[in-house]
Amino acid sequence: MLASNYLGPFLLTNLLLDRVTAAPAARVIVVASEAHRIAGRLHPERFEDLGDFGVLGSFRAYGRTKLLDILFARELARRLAGTGATANSLCPGTVATNLYGQMRALRAIAPALSRIPLLRTAEQGARMTVRLASDPALADVTGRYFTSAPGVALLPPVRALRSASLQLRIWERTAALVELGA
Ligand SMILES: NC(=O)c1ccc[n+]([C@@H]2O[C@H](COP(=O)([O-])OP(=O)(O)OC[C@H]3O[C@@H](n4cnc5c(N)ncnc54)[C@H](OP(=O)(O)O)[C@@H]3O)[C@@H](O)[C@H]2O)c1
Repeated sequence: MLASNYLGPFLLTNLLLDRVTAAPAARVIVVASEAHRIAGRLHPERFEDLGDFGVLGSFRAYGRTKLLDILFARELARRLAGTGATANSLCPGTVATNLYGQMRALRAIAPALSRIPLLRTAEQGARMTVRLASDPALADVTGRYFTSAPGVALLPPVRALRSASLQLRIWERTAALVELGA
């Protein structure tokens, strides 16, 4: 989960950064999740220990990888300052995709539920990502987290999102874990 959701995107993005910053304008968009709110406290020196993988533990582990994604986008935005590139993250809302592949009943009722904003079709879930990638009004917006989950934008950000020093330390440790520049 850590490799697919966080380490892989971190490494891939970094390997592409020369091209990203050479472009006249570029946008890095990290697909995170509101699940980041149940991540608990991230220890900067051992964040890769996601904890137990029981029913609740695995959901919290997922939330941790998504919190790491948001922190990554924030630190990346700082590193891209002064270039033509931006970095933002988002939550697409709850979307009936293969993430819920085993839950056939949920997928069957998705079209009906998508009429209210509780469960979205894949097309609806993709809208925020497409908007962040293409809306001219967002060309200079960077370092932000956007959420499509109804009502959640009113909640205060979790503490880790306000700590630039934590974001920097986690970046440095992640770079070491993936042997970036080694
Ligand atoms: N669905 C939701 O309600 C929801 C809510 C919040 C955030 N998100 C986020 O949205 C993003 C997309 O999720 P989704 O809902 O579209 O889920 P999905 O339908 O399960 O799609 C996941 C995608 O990731 C690919 N993938 C998984 N493991 C991989 C690996 N190890 N290496 C390379 N590719 C891998 C899968 O490839 P294959 O098709 O080849 O397996 C698939 O294309 C994720 O970051 C998820 O955390 C989803």
